[in-house]
Amino acid sequence: MSTHKNLTIGLFGFGVVGEGIYQVLQQTPSLNARIKKVCIRHAYKKRNADADLFTTDYNGILNDPEINLVVELIDDAEEAYKIVTTAFRKKKSVVSANKKLIAEHLAELILLQQEHGVSFLYEAAVCGSIPIIRNLEEYYDNDLLQSICGIVNGSTNYILTKISEGLNYNDALLKAQQLGFAESNPALDVEGIDAANKLTILLAHAYGIVTKPQQLIHLGITRLHEADADFAREKNYEVKLTAQARKSPGGKIASFVLPQFVKEESQLFNVKNEYNGVIIESKLADKQFLYGKGAGRYPTSSAVISDISALTYDYRYEYKKLRRHEKYVLSNDYYLKVYVSFNDWAEVNKWDFEQVNEFHSTDERQYITGIIYAEKLKNADWFYDPSVSVIVLPNGIIEKENIIAKSVKKLSLQLAGVS
Ligand code: HSE
Repeated sequence: MSTHKNLTIGLFGFGVVGEGIYQVLQQTPSLNARIKKVCIRHAYKKRNADADLFTTDYNGILNDPEINLVVELIDDAEEAYKIVTTAFRKKKSVVSANKKLIAEHLAELILLQQEHGVSFLYEAAVCGSIPIIRNLEEYYDNDLLQSICGIVNGSTNYILTKISEGLNYNDALLKAQQLGFAESNPALDVEGIDAANKLTILLAHAYGIVTKPQQLIHLGITRLHEADADFAREKNYEVKLTAQARKSPGGKIASFVLPQFVKEESQLFNVKNEYNGVIIESKLADKQFLYGKGAGRYPTSSAVISDISALTYDYRYEYKKLRRHEKYVLSNDYYLKVYVSFNDWAEVNKWDFEQVNEFHSTDERQYITGIIYAEKLKNADWFYDPSVSVIVLPNGIIEKENIIAKSVKKLSLQLAGVS
């Protein structure tokens, strides 16, 4: 006997993912989920579905008592905020893929869904087809989770892959847009903001930390310079945009989105194109790796469908880690091993580094490798200078306890010949 409940869906958005969901549900009658209405913005566009299905009246859906699930797949995060919060107040559960909406309003959305006794699922918002949120929520529901380190944005990974195959940046970005991977404002992808939004969501489910994406140190791929690619080639590294969170013994969580040089032995090395990959490290299991398509119609639809299916048995995120007795705190009290390239020494203050290991200078570009305190990096003017490229070196997070005493700083700068 099945205890699954029937779902009557009001779908918002009929774009790359919305249309994908419509198609997949047509082919999956066993789910007991039927789309009753689809709310669209532009009534005049030709759609691949029965015209009766569409409406531009979103209140019509939100006030329809038969609709018990809202699937929100629109692009505009502020409109989505209105739809989702109204749906909660009308006691409708919501499935969403809108990482920007979720990351920017997470605290409020958690409270509101609990207040109204509804469920809010968003597996598709992070890493497309990879079931990362439910794994963090259900399987890693204890204190053993040491770190997560992943490629969480498909577009930038696609662009970096194509550049390494010889395409130029603009053409690679255009292709990512044509394939439906990129955000409608691709600056969100290439500036690392989409990855910071996803990391914000991951932090809640991994460590019970509810923060804002703006609080996280983040940088995208727009600053990467040809000289950085040369450096990577020379050392047999790949450059990847990584989102990371690592627990230190005191319960402080180091977290950032930054380009990183990745060695061949890392599982992230072979994550190419629009694929995403996340390495999860736990105390007992050591490293585990989740890998799959991170963007595109059907990979994203697969996560939305999984959420819809989970709602047929009333699944909810419990956010257990938010109620943990001893809270984890986000902290920039750690060090990073970085490579920094720039055009002129005037652009970067070498005294911001605890230690300098390498310094290289050509007519075209200079670079330095060394160790910097994360909070100092965040506060350094040069970190925000568009002509300066910052890339984390392999195994680049260093806990405070492991850092060489400050007195060595001056000496190491001298040895590197940059004082
Ligand atoms: N623009 C996003 C990406 C879509 O490229 O990862 C999937 O979240």
